[in-house]
Amino acid sequence: MEQYIMKGGNPLVGEVTVSGAKNAALGILTAAIMTDEDVLIENLPDVRDINVMLEAIEEIGARVERVDRHTVRINASTIQEISVDDEYIRRIRASYYFIGALLGKYKSAQVPLPGGCNIGSRPIDQHLKGFRALGGDVRIEGGAVIVHAIDLVGSHIYLDVVSVGATINIMMAATLAEGLTILENVAKEPHVVDVANFLNSMGANIKGAGTDTIRIRGVKKLHGTEYSIIPDQIEAGTFMCAAAVTRGDVMVKNVIPKHLEAITAKLLEIGCEVIEFDDAVRVVGKPVQRHTDIKTLPYPGFPTDMQPQMTVTLALAAGTSMVTESIFENRFKYVDELARMGSCIKVEGNVAVIDGVKRLTGAQVNAPDLRAGAALVLAGLAAEGVTEVDEIGYIQRGYECFEEKLQGLGAMIEKVDSEKDAQKFRLKVG
Ligand code: UD1
Repeated sequence: MEQYIMKGGNPLVGEVTVSGAKNAALGILTAAIMTDEDVLIENLPDVRDINVMLEAIEEIGARVERVDRHTVRINASTIQEISVDDEYIRRIRASYYFIGALLGKYKSAQVPLPGGCNIGSRPIDQHLKGFRALGGDVRIEGGAVIVHAIDLVGSHIYLDVVSVGATINIMMAATLAEGLTILENVAKEPHVVDVANFLNSMGANIKGAGTDTIRIRGVKKLHGTEYSIIPDQIEAGTFMCAAAVTRGDVMVKNVIPKHLEAITAKLLEIGCEVIEFDDAVRVVGKPVQRHTDIKTLPYPGFPTDMQPQMTVTLALAAGTSMVTESIFENRFKYVDELARMGSCIKVEGNVAVIDGVKRLTGAQVNAPDLRAGAALVLAGLAAEGVTEVDEIGYIQRGYECFEEKLQGLGAMIEKVDSEKDAQKFRLKVG
């Protein structure tokens, strides 16, 4: 079983380049099947979730050509199936985007219903509400969502909760509906805007992405395009926290600083130095960092996907911090693992009260999910001694070359898959 093993205690210093945004790419890849013409997508992150999504796209009959590691050409003129295999939804929840894409293009889709996951129950009622409003007949049968529409017709839809997935999914279907769709109370995340820009580059008519209301004027068909995905806001934020928690000095390159404002604001509050450039941010950690309070919120609020990395940073800040998780119900599982490293955090409901400690010490811990896994690696890099993080398959779902990028910043970290290699690492680092 693969694990990361690391010896912490050294400040991370240097430059790191952020990959393309995984969550934007998941939406964009599915949207790419909505035309029969060639679509070239660049700056694709080479991570597990994306590779599984590409397999799923091939599985329903589209042609997928890997132009290079980060570029793919998709041609969906050969799609024969409007039904997606259960295996893919189990491996990536975001394959629910096939519902919107297939419904828009073929007026029909059959996709297994995703279950809950490690961070809590994740209903898709808002997605289904949107498809119904567009004229889709939505049934749940045999564990799958089955949607058919004779005609998809634009509608006025108000989302009851701000949902990234529902916004993107409904937007895709509405792109090929007849007439105007007005989607209100939508998510404003950078990847929602990126998917909208991508669809517009295929001939869609979407206005207002990035605000609370999106207007979609349906078009008859979409055409081919070439598109480059935005940088990953969460990967960038993770390296920013890595600089802070190890008291390092890291230039995080290939970012859109505006997308990082919520993270930057919190790092400034705790006393870090954050310097913004056109497409980079430099974070300089300070020997003594202060406590702060955080509440996760939809964009432009503090992202839930950065909650664990920031909690780790606060675990080593002076004073008492409070982190409130308002998006997902079960996103503090990693706190028990962190406790094994000497942190002092009490969780009650959706609030973690963090009493900052002076030092963490290495331990063997388990990654419970993607972002918490990355956060435990940050804790290991800040801790004294050797830390082993197990279940790193979660981390590889969303971080490209995580250990190589950290090594480039001077981290003593390796990916090993046997006790013998782990032992070798321990001997090497003393
Ligand atoms: C996306 C991101 C995920 C991120 C999350 C919140 C992708 C592939 N994943 O997930 O990394 O953590 O946004 O920023 O982009 N909800 C409902 N009904 C619905 C849909 C959502 O009640 O139909 C609730 C959810 O339970 C959650 C909240 O709305 O409490 C936000 O979820 P949502 O924005 O939909 O998350 P995802 O799109 O699944």
